[in-house]
Amino acid sequence: MFKLKLKSKDVKIEKVPKHVGIIMDGNGRWAKKRLQPRIFGHKAGMDALQEVTITASDYGVKVLTVYAFSTENWSRPREEVNFIMNLPVEFFDKYVPELKKNNVRIQMIGDTQALPEETLKALNDAIETTRKNSGLVLNFALNYGGRSEITNAVKMIAQDVLEASFNPDDITEDLIANYLMTDHLPYLYRDPDLIIRTSGELRLSNFLLWQSAYSEFYFTPVFWPDFRRSEFIEALVEYNRRKRRFGRV
Ligand code: FPP
Repeated sequence: MFKLKLKSKDVKIEKVPKHVGIIMDGNGRWAKKRLQPRIFGHKAGMDALQEVTITASDYGVKVLTVYAFSTENWSRPREEVNFIMNLPVEFFDKYVPELKKNNVRIQMIGDTQALPEETLKALNDAIETTRKNSGLVLNFALNYGGRSEITNAVKMIAQDVLEASFNPDDITEDLIANYLMTDHLPYLYRDPDLIIRTSGELRLSNFLLWQSAYSEFYFTPVFWPDFRRSEFIEALVEYNRRKRRFGRV
């Protein structure tokens, strides 16, 4: 159990979400407020991600899935897309040693085929060098879309039925989950307990559609670059207050 000094009173955190998903939104508006180009916000967003990762690890979170680039983000100006695609290269260059020290393991979900070679190499290197770590899994959703993930799962299942690997009657929720990109996560932590979205937007934007069926949601007006250790802890405190019933009474 963690005891926290938060605002004026002590708060006990008894229930820590094991899997947290984050929609890191508001980098562009954060930069605009400072009369800076959007990429300035993405750069600051990188530091926020590092701080939040270490905090999540400190509090015993097992999986942190971060929405870094959606399948829809390709329609942004080319310069911005190129910049975002280079972020993993910079991020891992700067932060892998500290992540390793904290026993963090890097993984990813998304359609990797469409990523630039350099981006993919940085990710694969980070995945490889942290492969033996047993602490928090930092799971990057890059070129990820929930509907596309489900569509691909349906195609693979149809193919396996055609090849008579199993009958349609054998299709269960558990089987479907095995065909999703989150199947590489520890079995008990595939679905996020808590989804955080920053910047005041109140939507899911194609993030972990299947997996979020029973997630708790936490929305904050704070722009992502300002979402730091204390903001993450506030989200943990709020989660701790929630009563999860999973459809029961
Ligand atoms: C959303 O803000 C942010 C993104 C699409 C990019 C996310 C990237 C980071 C948080 C940096 C860390 C990432 C990696 C891969 C290391 P927005 O641009 O939509 O902001 P806006 O809604 O204010 O325009």
